[in-house]
Amino acid sequence: MLKSPRGTRDLLPPDTALWNFVEAAARDIFRAYNFHEIRTPIFESTELFARGVGEETDIVKKEMFTWEDRGRAESDKGQSLTLRPENTAGIVRAYIEHKLWERGLNKFFSIGPMFRRERPQKGRYRQFYQIDAEIIGPAAAGSQSPARDAEILELVAALLDRVGIANWTLELNSVGCPADRTKFNEALRQALAPVVEKMCADCQRRAVTNPLRVFDCKVPEDQPIIKTLPTISQFLDEDCRTHFEEVKNILNAVHIPYVENPRLVRGLDYYQKTAFEFTHGSLGAQNAILGGGRYDGLSEALGGPPAPGIGFAIGEDRLVLSLMETATAESVIRKPDVYIAPLGGGMNREAARVASELRRHDLVVDLGDESFRLKKSFEAADKMGARYILIVGENEVAADAFALKHLASGEQVTVPRADLAQRILRK
Ligand code: HAM
Repeated sequence: MLKSPRGTRDLLPPDTALWNFVEAAARDIFRAYNFHEIRTPIFESTELFARGVGEETDIVKKEMFTWEDRGRAESDKGQSLTLRPENTAGIVRAYIEHKLWERGLNKFFSIGPMFRRERPQKGRYRQFYQIDAEIIGPAAAGSQSPARDAEILELVAALLDRVGIANWTLELNSVGCPADRTKFNEALRQALAPVVEKMCADCQRRAVTNPLRVFDCKVPEDQPIIKTLPTISQFLDEDCRTHFEEVKNILNAVHIPYVENPRLVRGLDYYQKTAFEFTHGSLGAQNAILGGGRYDGLSEALGGPPAPGIGFAIGEDRLVLSLMETATAESVIRKPDVYIAPLGGGMNREAARVASELRRHDLVVDLGDESFRLKKSFEAADKMGARYILIVGENEVAADAFALKHLASGEQVTVPRADLAQRILRK
């Protein structure tokens, strides 16, 4: 039997209703905060992620689905392409390519699949979905302001609240600017020198190439060593420190609780200053529902103008998993308002007309077949959880008035065609 590839999943009804519910809530919230949708390609040049996310990150080093293009055209030949493992780099590329600052656009969101070749487990897949939001723009437009960091974090809290996720924890840190990072990496190198040979092969390499990435290590035996390493907070300069303080001040003012985690460095190299994750206890080992932070140098690293930015990406798979703790797909599905039962030969046409009229009133309508006995129609209406059943038989058509039965109470009335929609809409 053919199966979906390892780490990929079919999202099936009724669960897809929860996905749609989450996405609709996200779109509402994004509208309220003046974000606009952007859709970028699912594959990009490999170089974008190497330069954007960082050569030494696990994502780029181990997890990307990369291939060489087989195109015949000279321009395609040998081009290295990659299924996007994340979308910040793609959005910043599009921002630069289309000079989006000239159109006064600086708040973007996107929803779609990402790909990472990770070891699959609960909450970790090779194709997963992110709801991504980014604020990016010229410094003159205020995009480097701590007000933007706080706005992003408050937006996340509002969204989690809207979908009904409670008991999240916001972990917050500042990873400083490049100058702080240089000093920090130097201190890490020194601290690692006497112990690194006891660590895993990856850490031994990281200690040389990019010591900060040692914090990404998941090997249990290495954790006691990692706990003794210095943290970035000791190396922040005045500007980064004040920025971080102001982010926290605004969060306090809008009553967003957070805990500081000085070891939170995030697995992507582009972060500067604010870095954060929202975690949720229900998720087990893969407990980060979302992560994000500020990436003030990314546009320049990709060949663009200076454009400070901050954003986050929600792991939609994980958000839906958390939601399933408290909500069922059934609770967000809109059941049919009415099931139309054509009764007897020639009634499919009449039933189709009535259904078409009612659907234009934004009612959810399902439709049977004239070959069904009345009993079978009732069973079908019951099974799909319809509120009403509407009988379309010869007598009803002749009278232009229809038998409408409320399934829960059993109450039945005859309603003229012109009044049907209003009658059904009235709960
Ligand atoms: P990230 O932390 O790599 O950040 O991913 C964000 C979220 O995507 C994670 O917190 C997690 O919920 C979800 N996620 C990641 N990998 C998987 C996986 N294999 N299976 C299921 N869910 C997963 C980023 O991607 C950044 N681009 C976020 C960002 C936006 N930073 C600034 N702007």
